[in-house]
Amino acid sequence: MKGDAYIKPVKGLVGEIKVPGDKSVSHRAVIFASMASGESKVTNLLLSDDTKCTIEIMEALGADISIDEDEGNLFITGVGRDGFREPANILDCKNSGTTMRLMMGVLAKENFFSILVGDASLSKRPMRRVTGPLIKMGANILGRGGSDGVDASFAPIAIRGGGLTGIRYDMPVSSAQIKSALLVAGMGAAGKTQISDPGMSRDHTERMMRYFGLPIGEEDGYITVEHCDSFDGRDIDVVGDISSATFFIVGALITEKSDLLITNVGLNPGRRGAIDVLLKMGADIEILNEREGSGELEGDIRVKSSGLKGIEITGDLIPPMIDEVPAIAVAAAYADGETVITGAGELRVKESDRIMTTVENLKSMGAKVSELEDGLVIMPVGSEVKLEGGKAKSFGDHRAAMAAAVFGLSSKSGVTVSDSDCVGVSFPGFFDLLNKVSDQ
Ligand code: S3P
Repeated sequence: MKGDAYIKPVKGLVGEIKVPGDKSVSHRAVIFASMASGESKVTNLLLSDDTKCTIEIMEALGADISIDEDEGNLFITGVGRDGFREPANILDCKNSGTTMRLMMGVLAKENFFSILVGDASLSKRPMRRVTGPLIKMGANILGRGGSDGVDASFAPIAIRGGGLTGIRYDMPVSSAQIKSALLVAGMGAAGKTQISDPGMSRDHTERMMRYFGLPIGEEDGYITVEHCDSFDGRDIDVVGDISSATFFIVGALITEKSDLLITNVGLNPGRRGAIDVLLKMGADIEILNEREGSGELEGDIRVKSSGLKGIEITGDLIPPMIDEVPAIAVAAAYADGETVITGAGELRVKESDRIMTTVENLKSMGAKVSELEDGLVIMPVGSEVKLEGGKAKSFGDHRAAMAAAVFGLSSKSGVTVSDSDCVGVSFPGFFDLLNKVSDQ
């Protein structure tokens, strides 16, 4: 959907839906299948603006990828560990931080020239956290400097890789993107690479590496990876995206007559934080049929309208729900009591400054909220007052757009979200699906 989207108030969200494939897992499926020897079939892959960047870049490097758009299946013939070729042109990651940071890990071992570029938002996001350790491993990487004069801090990033040696690296920030880039680079380095994570960032890369039988392990609190000369392709069924599901879960909770079943949702412990937090807030959420598929956990989620209460969200609760803060803040706006979210400073360097954009949108839709350096406080307006709705902005950020849309479902006059086409970054059919389950 281009331009403005109007979401009207509804009685509830009712029915059964399946959300698209997980974005993080989809990027990794394309990358690992492209590095493998031979064929992999990837089912339920998310085909969104972000994952299409990863697909196009892998094709530019030589992978043979064909897409069955109707079924959402991908057939990938990987190039093998030494098969990537120098790309003829720049590699455009557009809005996708996962593409850019994981590709740096892939390209660090390649003794050819490549340039990664992104859109205005991605060009402002910190890259030194990945280029720094890759340079230590031996890759030649240049990029725009930071205000502190440190080189290779921002895209465009130019790489001529090769000659990597494994390092022991203590990540200063808990980030799956840094960890994944180093794990992939470590597969192309001499010796062992050891990485420690100060938090519990999502472990999709580790799970996928184990699924492909790659030399990954753990010792003395470090994740380790050894050099790998070749590995074979393998079929992957991508679990549904819990981040996408969360918008529907929150929409169902805050409206009056909801009963929604969301099937095949990924339940990786590093990703299901929003469910745990919503349960603490008093949500009526049931997890059914928990099972394992292609190295990830998944299950079905049944959610019903619920009276929510405010809580404190900080510390270890934050990393497994970091992408869900905009949606959880909407649930908090409709809760009784105050919700305080702290320890979430990483939100300032996502697709938008998500502390600022969440606060600004909630305020403009009638919620009482204040901004903290590393989080936000959402105050109750009182159960006798219905939140107004009105106007919200996407700020070019898919999750800001979807959070504002969900706010509209329980508001007095609905919400108009400007520049809403950015939802295509992670959830192309979002508005149609919302409409389908909306009980007017
Ligand atoms: C992602 C990791 C997280 C997350 C992002 C996707 C990934 O970022 O916010 O949306 O797929 O590895 P960080 O690694 O910066 O924490």
